[in-house]
Amino acid sequence: MNILLVGSGGREHALSWQLAQSPSCRKLYAAPGNPGIEAYAECVAIAIDDLDGLIAFCTAHAIDFVVVGPEAPLVAGLADRLRDRGIAVFGPAAAAAQLEGSKGFTKDLCARADIPTAAYVRCTSADDALARLDGFTIPVVIKADGLAAGKGVIIAETREEAEAAIADMMRGAFGGAGAEVVIEEYMTGEEASFFALSDGTNVMAFGSAQDHKRVGDGDVGPNTGGMGAYSPAPVLTPDLEAQVMDRIIRPTVATLAAEQTPYIGVLFAGLMLTDAGPKLIEYNARFGDPECQVLMMRYTGDLAALLYAASTGELAGAAPPAFASDYALTVVMAADGYPATPAKGGAIHGIADAESGGGRVFHAGTARAGDQIIAAGGRVLNVTATGRTVTEAQGRAYAAVDRLDFATGFCRRDIGWREVAREAE
Ligand code: AMP
Ligand code: GLY
Repeated sequence: MNILLVGSGGREHALSWQLAQSPSCRKLYAAPGNPGIEAYAECVAIAIDDLDGLIAFCTAHAIDFVVVGPEAPLVAGLADRLRDRGIAVFGPAAAAAQLEGSKGFTKDLCARADIPTAAYVRCTSADDALARLDGFTIPVVIKADGLAAGKGVIIAETREEAEAAIADMMRGAFGGAGAEVVIEEYMTGEEASFFALSDGTNVMAFGSAQDHKRVGDGDVGPNTGGMGAYSPAPVLTPDLEAQVMDRIIRPTVATLAAEQTPYIGVLFAGLMLTDAGPKLIEYNARFGDPECQVLMMRYTGDLAALLYAASTGELAGAAPPAFASDYALTVVMAADGYPATPAKGGAIHGIADAESGGGRVFHAGTARAGDQIIAAGGRVLNVTATGRTVTEAQGRAYAAVDRLDFATGFCRRDIGWREVAREAE
């Protein structure tokens, strides 16, 4: 197959590495790709929001299969347009991508399908939201409805904070994303991520992970896209995974199929493991970043063939995903100032040295400047290693971090701490 991978981050670097190794992949292109992806794919300078450009490229280069990394092109309808032209694509149509694109859509779906999740109300005016707030205890969660690049969620610790969040969101602090807000019951428990492939009808579990969203050691400071992750997440026991498949994933896919908006692609479920069992926090319509990097680090099969099966209604006949039993752990190296104002242009050396211990350094936000690799984003590198325990994987990942020379970058030093502490017990 000729394959086009859409995206340019660490997630896509990890996907490109696996796709290029897949026996069923003949030629791999990436749009726009990044300096790390260049080792595995021919990178073409087409932006992820240039849907016309992406489609014209597929036609001109006899692309058989498109794998979409980020959510924005899916929400904008890239998968619909490719399928209309007979091109297989891994990723949901716009109507099904609403699972990520609209929190209210997902909450209503949970209500229709009796999927365990936090109690909620949807509000389209500030007055309505303020009135409905009375029905919730504090802390309470206020969310902008649409895509807000991970910034549209406020956990309000007081009534005043909740009112301020509603006012900010309704005033457009998150752009169009805030024209509607969702007020949610605050859930307590440990968070975990679960992944499942869907071909529209059939589903297949695709592993688990835990990430670290706060910028600082000990989970303090502002939220980020994720400062590190590991896989699998042992808190998600086989019994809990079975519950998640039966009570959350299968009803989601069945309901969307019954409503003529079948879901094709990966469901990334953010879960709260509450005393009353796993509950859905949110869905993403794509692989997580950096969760994908640790899943790919453990994957051992023909990824292109499996994702193609999911994209062509053939998942029922496909073998389950083959994952190494080792743990994988990734440490995000971010540019100084991230997440507010990341420093651009800092030089990076020592990648080959960092990888000499068996780890891999995925490029998340880099660029070439002559023969140098420089920082060109908030999250810059994902330093990834495996081990028989999370503790061993963590030790190897930080040994690789310490061989890197990236003076204007930083990382958390405690990725995996929950599991490392449990392993020490
Ligand atoms: P989301 O963007 O919906 O994943 O929310 C971001 C983060 O906010 C989640 O990872 C949780 O830590 C937290 N969060 C979201 N919704 C809730 C909720 N109903 N109860 C408790 N925490 C939540
Ligand atoms: N790391 C969380 C995400 O990809 O949304």
